[in-house]
Amino acid sequence: MSTRQFSSALQAKIDPLMDKRQKIKLGNIDFDSKLLLAPMAGICTPPFRLLMEDLGAGGTVSELISCHGINYENSKTMKMLEIDEREKNVGIQLFGEDKEAMAKAAIVAQKFGPKFLDINMGCPVRKVVSKGGGSALMKDITVLGDFFKTVRDAIDIPLSIKIRTGWDADDMNALQIENIAKEAGIEWVAIHGRTRAQQYTGLANWDFIEDLKSKSSLPIIGNGDLHQPHQVYSKLSGSTCDAFMIARGCLRNPFIFIESLEQNETKKSKFYGKDYFEVIERLFNYTNDTYDQERIRLIQLRKLIVWFAAGFNGAAAFRSRMFQAKTLEDTMKGAQEYYLGLGESQKNINFDEVFMSSGHG
Ligand SMILES: Cc1cc2nc3c(=O)[nH]c(=O)nc-3n(C[C@H](O)[C@H](O)[C@H](O)COP(=O)(O)O)c2cc1C
Repeated sequence: MSTRQFSSALQAKIDPLMDKRQKIKLGNIDFDSKLLLAPMAGICTPPFRLLMEDLGAGGTVSELISCHGINYENSKTMKMLEIDEREKNVGIQLFGEDKEAMAKAAIVAQKFGPKFLDINMGCPVRKVVSKGGGSALMKDITVLGDFFKTVRDAIDIPLSIKIRTGWDADDMNALQIENIAKEAGIEWVAIHGRTRAQQYTGLANWDFIEDLKSKSSLPIIGNGDLHQPHQVYSKLSGSTCDAFMIARGCLRNPFIFIESLEQNETKKSKFYGKDYFEVIERLFNYTNDTYDQERIRLIQLRKLIVWFAAGFNGAAAFRSRMFQAKTLEDTMKGAQEYYLGLGESQKNINFDEVFMSSGHG
């Protein structure tokens, strides 16, 4: 198993920021930070979750996993349930439309050792919604109490839900769902501040999230469009939410969980190309620990190596070079050359450009 040490130079930049984390207890779980890694399909696998924990995330959630896939013992689905023993506060997210199938799958998922389970109620993708799962669960709330209770009663660990603001602008029923969830024994609610109809367009509605928080008795985790450290900082200092989830922000800035904790620009540690390469090396090691097949390792790693370059000089040319590399060895060599060659140049991400405008929640 690979080591969790960064060089002393990088660790010396990370540690003082780690000390600024604000702890939060949700259910019976102590999270080291109010900033959590949001679930992302194809991305929030053990290697990435471990890496984000090392870089300050207070907790993580798996990608969405099909309850039916679990109940059929589909081998790919079962692999998705695996947790690395070094992970600290990880939740497994399930999706499905049938309460009995969800409860059965939850029992199996719990055996893999997550700290909590989460129900996906935000996925807007047609394939999921047309079968009644994901955000479709927000449509008919009359059945939700029973749905939640059936899953709740099947497991011993905390159960949370991840919702959107509502199905569409005419039906923003998150508060009603929170009430039903509380009655059914759900421990907390994470909310992506868009309706299902919005998919990923427009802006996350933080006024709605704050209003929900003010009327809810369950802890609320706010999510949506926290892509830059100063945006996260302003939520940490100004929002009444109990915690926050970050998804896309950490794909272009893996240091966002700690950089967001320091408002004063002059006191901020600057992370350079060589620091990014150390992070990539660690991700490479975690990926090797998790996957046997070189092809899967390459697929998992390459996209992150490319996303992390966003905003650095020559990122576009680097991206096309990376997608021509055939082997993991060539990919790592190319990444080393690029990132170490960046010297002390700084990132300048264009946040006006659309980045990843589809996902499963
Ligand atoms: C590529 C991608 C995959 C996603 N997969 C999931 C998922 O599996 N489950 C889920 O609840 N949300 C999923 N989401 C939604 C995110 O967790 C988050 O709610 C959304 O991206 C808004 O947060 P952000 O602005 O910080 O990205 C995904 C988003 C993206 C971009």
